[in-house]
Order: sequence, then C-alpha cells, then structure tokens
Amino acid sequence: MSGDGKRLRPALMLLTTEAFGGSIDKTLAAAAAIELLHNFTLVHDDIMDRDKTRRGRATVHNKWDINVALLAGDGLVALAYETLLETPSHEILAISKLFTQGLIEVCEGQAMDIEFETRDHVLTEEYLEMIGKKTARLLSMCAQIGGLIAGANQEECDHLNNFGMSLGVAFQIQDDLLDITADENILGKDFGSDIKQHKKTSILIYALEKSSAKQIDEIQRVYKQKEITATDILTVKNIFAETGALRHAKKLADHYFSTASQSLNKLADRAEVTFLKQFLNLVLNRKA
Ligand code: IPE
Ligand code: IPE
Ligand code: MG
Ligand code: MG
Ligand code: MG
Repeated sequence: MSGDGKRLRPALMLLTTEAFGGSIDKTLAAAAAIELLHNFTLVHDDIMDRDKTRRGRATVHNKWDINVALLAGDGLVALAYETLLETPSHEILAISKLFTQGLIEVCEGQAMDIEFETRDHVLTEEYLEMIGKKTARLLSMCAQIGGLIAGANQEECDHLNNFGMSLGVAFQIQDDLLDITADENILGKDFGSDIKQHKKTSILIYALEKSSAKQIDEIQRVYKQKEITATDILTVKNIFAETGALRHAKKLADHYFSTASQSLNKLADRAEVTFLKQFLNLVLNRKA
C-alpha cells in the first residue's frame, strides 16, 4: 500500500461525488475501501501471472512466498469491507451490493484471463468480456458509488456505469500496450509479462489475424518454449509492430475513451463533469 500506485480508483470515486455536488468527506471510507480491494486483486494477480515486480518493488509472493501473498490478499478483502462499512450513507446497502458484485466479477474475469492462456483461439468479443469483468467493472463501480453517495438517481447511475465500463476497457487495453511498450523503470512491473504468460490480449489476437505464415511460425516457436527470454519478447513485439497490432490497440483504446467521454456529456446537464473529463485525459495520456 505504501508503494506509488496511481490511486486512480479512489480519485475517480471522489471526483464523481464532487461532480454531483456531494461532500467528499462522506466518500473517503468507500474510496479507501476500493483501493484496499484493488490491492488485493494485485497481490493475487501477481501470483497468477508469476510476476516479480510491482510498483518498482518485489511482489509479495516473490519477497515472502505464495502462502503469505494469499493471506495478505485475503486480509486486504476483509480490511476493504471493514472500511467500506464505515461509509456514512443511507445507501450503504446498495453500495455494499455494488462492491460485492464488482468483486465477484473481478474473480470471473481473472478466471477467464487464466483460462485463455491455454486456449489457441480467443475472439475479440471474449477478450472484451474478460477485461470488462477483471478491470472495467471496478472502475464503473467507483463512479457509481461516488454518484450514489452524492445522491445521483438511477438514470445518472446508469450513465456513470457506462462511463466507468468504457473507461475501464480503454484502461486495460492501454495496460496491455504498456506491458510491451513502456519503460520498465517507469512502469514498475515486469516487461513483456503478457507474452511470457501467453495472455490473449487484443494485440496478440489482431497480430495473429494479420500475420504471414512466417510470422505465425515465429510466434508459435516463441510460445512453445518453456522459458521465454527477453529476446523472444522483442521478436514478438516486432511482429506486433509489423502487423499494425500496436497501432490497432491504440485505436481501440481511443475508441473506448471517446465512448466514455460521450457518457460524461450525457451527464453534463446535471453534474459538473469538467474534472471527470480532466481525469479521463490524464488516464488517456498515462505512461505507467
Ligand atoms: C493495475 O492497475 C491493474 C490493472 C487493472 C491493469 P493500476 O495501473 O491502476 O495499478 P496501480 O494501482 O497504479 O499500481
Ligand atoms: C489486471 O490485469 C488484473 C487485475 C484485475 C488485478 P493485468 O494482470 O494485466 O494487470 P497487471 O499488468 O499485472 O497490473
Ligand atoms: Mg498481472
Ligand atoms: Mg493478470
Ligand atoms: Mg497487465
């Protein structure tokens, strides 16, 4: 928790409360709770993805061991609920339901992510469903809870849900791009982890569609290996660049960012969305 995470989820929740004229004091507990829950997902995700670094430091299971990381993650879920229940709102039941639904969907999305590792063919629609659950759901939940605490009505919550889902999908496509394009020191995570773990990202799905027979052979040669080296990662990254898969993923992320922006426009009559728009731009231009 003391590492330099971006704290995007609590920021989004607080900004949404402000957009609807609510007091952020009332949202602080829920905002802290979502960051705790997010950190749980990271600790367990790093076990599943066999990653060594997170936020520029050793991952929990790398520094200690898998049992410690499982327990640390479980403890974080408990702390998240303990903190959430301190929310001073008569909507606490609805908020708890959203929070729980978000957690269930993260587990479902993570299960799909792992299942896809051993599948040869994954459709773009399946990928989008998977990232909707593992990543976007938590962001949409932040926007909805932030709105609920400030008294947003059902229709407004629906727009907030759409906004958060589009933002979250764009965010994960970006994350997949950063996995092989970012500076490892700035990213603070293992370079090329998705290639090592045979993740079916939109980048890989598109590259396989557009590859020549020779490029497909090359990708398959790399993915068949027991140990994928840094050189192998660069080989695959080159094919991603040559087939236009990196450019395509950027366009796909931009499409979802603009859909998110349109959802905000629908709220503009009833909420002050300027800061949420600035938030969207910050995420759009992120380098880590
Ligand atoms: C990483 O989330 C996990 C994903 C859903 C891609 P963040 O990129 O928000 O991680 P931190 O909290 O800033 O470290
Ligand atoms: C997001 O996917 C995982 C979570 C829901 C926690 P990734 O596995 O790509 O996240 P990073 O890249 O490890 O942060
Ligand atoms: Mg991971
Ligand atoms: Mg993962
Ligand atoms: Mg990633």
